[in-house]
Amino acid sequence: MANKRIALLTGGGDCPGLNPAIRGAVLKATQLGYECVGLLDGWKGAIEGNHKPLTAACVAEIVGKGGTVLGTSRTNPYKKEGGVPKVLETFKKLQLDALIAMGGEDTLGVASKLYAEHKVPVVGVPKTMDNDLSATDYTFGFDTSATIAVDAAERLRDTGRSHKRIMLLEVMGRHAGWVALFTGIAAGADYVCLPERPVDVKDMVAKLKAAHAAKGTALVVASEAIDLPGDSKDKPLDEFGHEILKARGVAERLTAVIEKETGIETRSAVIGHIQRGGPPTLFDRILGTRVGTKAAELVHEGKFGNMVALKGDAVVPVSLKEATAKLKTVTPAWLELLDAMTALPKGAAAGARAKAKAAA
Ligand code: F6P
Repeated sequence: MANKRIALLTGGGDCPGLNPAIRGAVLKATQLGYECVGLLDGWKGAIEGNHKPLTAACVAEIVGKGGTVLGTSRTNPYKKEGGVPKVLETFKKLQLDALIAMGGEDTLGVASKLYAEHKVPVVGVPKTMDNDLSATDYTFGFDTSATIAVDAAERLRDTGRSHKRIMLLEVMGRHAGWVALFTGIAAGADYVCLPERPVDVKDMVAKLKAAHAAKGTALVVASEAIDLPGDSKDKPLDEFGHEILKARGVAERLTAVIEKETGIETRSAVIGHIQRGGPPTLFDRILGTRVGTKAAELVHEGKFGNMVALKGDAVVPVSLKEATAKLKTVTPAWLELLDAMTALPKGAAAGARAKAKAAA
């Protein structure tokens, strides 16, 4: 009898850790006696039937590689004419017994619907640099992205110090502020702007002036999704109905506010997609490997309609429905930690005023 076949796909924005996850799934599935195929470019490949074989040899050297060897897209079969029937057709044509879908809330949302509505035998693997999936403690991609952002922030601070400027780094993260939060704390930022709470301009200005007076520079980390006065109501959307955030121009606009309110020369940088490339960190390689491997095991056990989640130190199945029900955003406890790290030192405001007066 021919081997059973598993298809793998990666959808949504890519992130470091996808290749380790693909490798984990393929190696484990092969050991369990399955044949693997890769559907190309996310759900687009599932609709069009574009695929390639995935053997143990194909994945032997991809654990340290950024991106995804399967390609990706933001295609939504539910938004394409005949998209869902075509996905079902591909299943038949390629004689697939199961699908491992690796993605964030959008890709996994499609997987969840296909399972609920058509009993498609699917297992989900969570990936996203945004770390915004509520059913899992961490997603791979996040550690690498935040690590790259910390490096960028520290470089900005060096040049800021030389020029006595305030420096601002805009990071990705969609509507969850995890990347900005971790970057800000780990890089020792003086102010962090998150989508979870409105920017308090007065507080920000006081902290930046105090930091600048004390150190000759100040660092701001801002998430791409924060609201600023004058944001357009007309928001460009992707196929999943999400706002395309790069159109917001947060860095430029927040820089103007800071420069005007502090009177201190300010510069900004947008790290953007640099955060999504390059080799995955150790954490993301191991997490990717674990969740990929577990997905192959769940297929073997027939536990479809689940996503692999990291809970504490264990990788466990959780239902796709639960996993895609709501986004994980920054909690009050984390905001408290951030506030403790960016609090104005006692007497700092008065000190800054005195220093400014003396310099005038
Ligand atoms: O969801 C991951 C993410 O990197 C977000 O942080 C960001 O807003 C978005 O993708 C960018 O998407 P694209 O690669 O389509 O520009």
